[in-house]
Amino acid sequence: YRRLRVALLGAGAVGSQVAGLLLRHADELADRAGAALELAGIAVRDVDAPRDVDLPRELFTTDAESLIVGSDIVIELMGGIEPARENLLLALNSGADVVTANKALLATHGTELFEAADQVGASVYYEAAAAGAIPIIRPLRDSLAGDRVERIMGIVNGTTNYILDRMDSEGADFAEVLADAQRLGYAEADPTADVEGFDAAQKAALLASLAFHTAVPLDAVHREGISEITPAMIEEARAAGFVIKLLAVCERLDVDGAESISVRVYPALVSRTHPLASVHAANNAVFVEAEAAGSLMFYGAGAGGIQTASAVLGDVVSAARRHIAGGVGVGESTRANLPIVPIGHVITRY
Ligand code: NDP
Ligand code: HSE
Repeated sequence: YRRLRVALLGAGAVGSQVAGLLLRHADELADRAGAALELAGIAVRDVDAPRDVDLPRELFTTDAESLIVGSDIVIELMGGIEPARENLLLALNSGADVVTANKALLATHGTELFEAADQVGASVYYEAAAAGAIPIIRPLRDSLAGDRVERIMGIVNGTTNYILDRMDSEGADFAEVLADAQRLGYAEADPTADVEGFDAAQKAALLASLAFHTAVPLDAVHREGISEITPAMIEEARAAGFVIKLLAVCERLDVDGAESISVRVYPALVSRTHPLASVHAANNAVFVEAEAAGSLMFYGAGAGGIQTASAVLGDVVSAARRHIAGGVGVGESTRANLPIVPIGHVITRY
């Protein structure tokens, strides 16, 4: 096989699992990709920090830039805006395809990255950026490209679902379950992103952009988190036959005959008989309603290192296939900017 040089940026909850799987399944991945995926190095902040997976010490470096230049595929799993943004721009401008799970970066600087990729004929893959292991980016971008998506509704943050689920099922304490979610590798480096709905809002912006073929800026997404949800509210909801879930709802609207969309994230009352009520632990579920396809449901692990690594590696195989095919492949172009109607908190019962 032709060898492709793969650079990994970050070896935390997700990155360490990606590195482990790349090394452990090297032969199978080469067969699937049609190229040998050679892990050239792993950029981190501290080369001596303990890792979830046992990885060769010599792969680690703190010099991300030297690792990036000359690589064919760059996987960014550092999180945050900088230096992730600069590193990915460097990767694209050096001729690499990039894979990232970084929804915070994509929701704020996605356009810049996609344009940089277009300019050099490279591609940005980000299946892991929404709903962890669940394939949802490709279905929206590719499989449903011939349909007309009307609405997306789902649970897209694993940490908050884990917290609300344990508060509901065991009466667990908010702070304790949040600490568990951090220990299990579900939460963002700053868990405020999860708890206050920022992470879900970033994912909602990405999903809505793909579903409605438009560019949804993060500040157009209505956002509420779960920090105000008390055990008493959970009890009250239960007594009435409901469970509280942090939902992301993205939908088309007709406002005075003009096409618009609304994108919002907020804690909602979900009937205990609704399928979303059965989404437990750090799982996610995304319902998509499309004109021709009807209702589709995507369900699975929404967070977690190894689970998310599955989605990342799928992207790496796709990037490798595209790379050896001479750059033919994926791209998402935006049609027009649809107006976004700011709908605030809607008391909705599903
Ligand atoms: P972690 O915080 O566990 O790991 C981050 C890694 O990046 C660490 O290895 C860290 O190095 C490295 N890093 C951070 N900043 C720098 C820097 N400036 N220079 C070099 N290396 C740096 O993050 P996760 O693995 O949880 O998440 C990674 C990405 O994946 C994020 O964008 C996150 O939103 C996304 N994601 C996470 C999921 C999850 O379940 N955890 C699910 C889906 C997406 P060091 O170890 O030396 O500190
Ligand atoms: N912190 C995120 C979550 C990771 O809990 O859903 C997956 O994107």
